[in-house]
Amino acid sequence: MSVSYDLLERQVRELLAGETNAIANAANFSAFVYHELPDVNWAGVYFLEDSGELVLGPFGGKPACTRLAPGRGVCGAAVTGARTVVVDDVKAFADHIVCDSASRSEIVVPLSSGKGLIGVFDVDSPRVARFTDADRIGIEALVRVFAESIA
Ligand code: SME
Repeated sequence: MSVSYDLLERQVRELLAGETNAIANAANFSAFVYHELPDVNWAGVYFLEDSGELVLGPFGGKPACTRLAPGRGVCGAAVTGARTVVVDDVKAFADHIVCDSASRSEIVVPLSSGKGLIGVFDVDSPRVARFTDADRIGIEALVRVFAESIA
């Protein structure tokens, strides 16, 4: 099933309009992505702390790991490289941190606001190679709308 990222982007703009609180917008943004993208079992935010650790923020899906050590996991790789990381098969990514054994592929997009890098947005799928390049471009566009809303 394909989705229209243009339509989703307009809906995210509408959803977040008029609110700048990071937690409120992270909550609605994560819930929106979790429900609107097919074949997704988790979608949420990790916020970057001064220590370099990522700490769990709002999400849709099952309870997840609360703290990710600096540079560790797919999320840490996205922070270290300051770029999106797509993992087609998490079992083949040596440093993948398992929060839900149902997850088979993953995309992590760095979250930059006016304050610089403030965290990551992480989406997991139970399907191998769920996230195509079109999904990467689309999800990055959605994340930009969210990041601008809290800048
Ligand atoms: N798998 C991630 C950890 C976060 S959970 O998927 C929600 C990672 O390797 O960084």
